[in-house]
Amino acid sequence: MAKKTSRFVCQNCGAVFPRWAGKCETCGEWNTIIEEESPSLSMPKATGGQGGRKIEFVSLDGVPETSFRLKSGISEFDRVCGGGLVAGSVLLIGGDPGIGKSTVLLQVTGALSKVCNAVGKPVRCVYISGEESVDQVRLRAARLGLASAKVDLASATNVRDIIATLDTGEAPDVVVIDSIQTMFSDALDSAPGTVGQVRACGNELIRLAKRRGFALFLVGHVTKEGTLAGPRVLEHMVDTVLYFEGDRGHHFRILRGVKNRFGATDEIGVFEMTDKGLCEVPNPSALFLAERRGNISGSCVYAGIEGSRPMLVEIQALAGLSSGGSPRRAVVGWDSARLAMVLAVLEARCGIKMSDKDVYLNVAGGIRLTEPAADLAVAAALLSSMSQIPVPADMVVFGEIGLSGEVRAVPQPSLRLKEAAKLGFSRALIPPARVNKKSVKESDTGLKLNEIGHLKTLLDMFGMIENKRES
Ligand code: TYD
Ligand code: MG
Repeated sequence: MAKKTSRFVCQNCGAVFPRWAGKCETCGEWNTIIEEESPSLSMPKATGGQGGRKIEFVSLDGVPETSFRLKSGISEFDRVCGGGLVAGSVLLIGGDPGIGKSTVLLQVTGALSKVCNAVGKPVRCVYISGEESVDQVRLRAARLGLASAKVDLASATNVRDIIATLDTGEAPDVVVIDSIQTMFSDALDSAPGTVGQVRACGNELIRLAKRRGFALFLVGHVTKEGTLAGPRVLEHMVDTVLYFEGDRGHHFRILRGVKNRFGATDEIGVFEMTDKGLCEVPNPSALFLAERRGNISGSCVYAGIEGSRPMLVEIQALAGLSSGGSPRRAVVGWDSARLAMVLAVLEARCGIKMSDKDVYLNVAGGIRLTEPAADLAVAAALLSSMSQIPVPADMVVFGEIGLSGEVRAVPQPSLRLKEAAKLGFSRALIPPARVNKKSVKESDTGLKLNEIGHLKTLLDMFGMIENKRES
């Protein structure tokens, strides 16, 4: 029998220590290290090369065995997966509890069960829930209009049972494990949800998926507390990592690809949560701008790119004199470090005093922006809020701001401008073209282009003057 040894594992980052400590040295979290029994299962003994089989090397130019991709027909989902599911691939879907992971996977399996696989047979989907009873899943399916979908449903948590079931008979095409934190392997003593269990269960299921050639979805909750292990330990084992994000106060949900061995990352799919489940949002810009009121100060439309798609969103800013103490900085939907940088540049390079002001920044619609290209739009919204002069309602803005206040070029300007023209905008505030690069022509985009080289130029637009720096 395998000798069991004790080890101490951080439940936040998965780092292993020989003894207990209050703080994890790797991730800096407190009270996340717990003792686990570690059988040799997760640490195979070194074999020293004896008794191994010789492996065959091949050239790079072979044709892959299958290039077939299973498409669910839910195009927002298929695009994030890189154009459909590849047989034997493993996808991890992370996200806060209650954000809609089970819902989207039930809808995807429901849709997949109506299409055919590579050999022309109807796709067989298996949905194993460790969180909800069969009746609960059935109720949800009825609500989603999927009660008659041919999905094999089970409620189980023991990985040994699951593997035994999936390993007999004809292999399914798609398997959903909801969620990996509720699964347990009886080879380990630790509780379900601990890093050791998540890693061991993930490992066994992934091996089976590769061997039997089915696409495997693993659902993983992300919690800030150390009680449930984050699915981070699985990220390097799986082929694709998707994050389902969104603001509970908004209906929009974004499925974001952060790693994909079979397609582009940073691709996003936009959904809206309705009483009949998640609906695709094929044209997010129109929806994000739907509630915009023209000609109010402190608002600016940013032309961004998310994945391969252009997307227009409204950035709102409010800057007011602070009532004393350290000024408040509240950011929703953007990086607060990036806002601090824009504020510092405005103060140091344009002489606009920001250090005595409370600043609130909001990206309307609940989407989270990741590009630095939003810098210029943020600066414009801030200056507009301070000067009470609105950014023209028919203008879009994009550009990155450097530390000396210069406005820098960003990728794919023409894609952004085309989207703006499509949505009825007629002007754009953009960075100057890169040296040796062809600039975007006004005639190509149908927009009046206003190139801006330095943040100081932006002050004129709002009737503000550069103050001399106070020393
Ligand atoms: P769920 O998929 O259970 O979240 P997760 O699996 O990520 O924990 O989503 C649950 C939330 O979605 C819940 O708050 C209710 C809401 N919801 C709807 O608004 N409409 C629907 O049709 C469904 C099925 C869920
Ligand atoms: Mg769920």
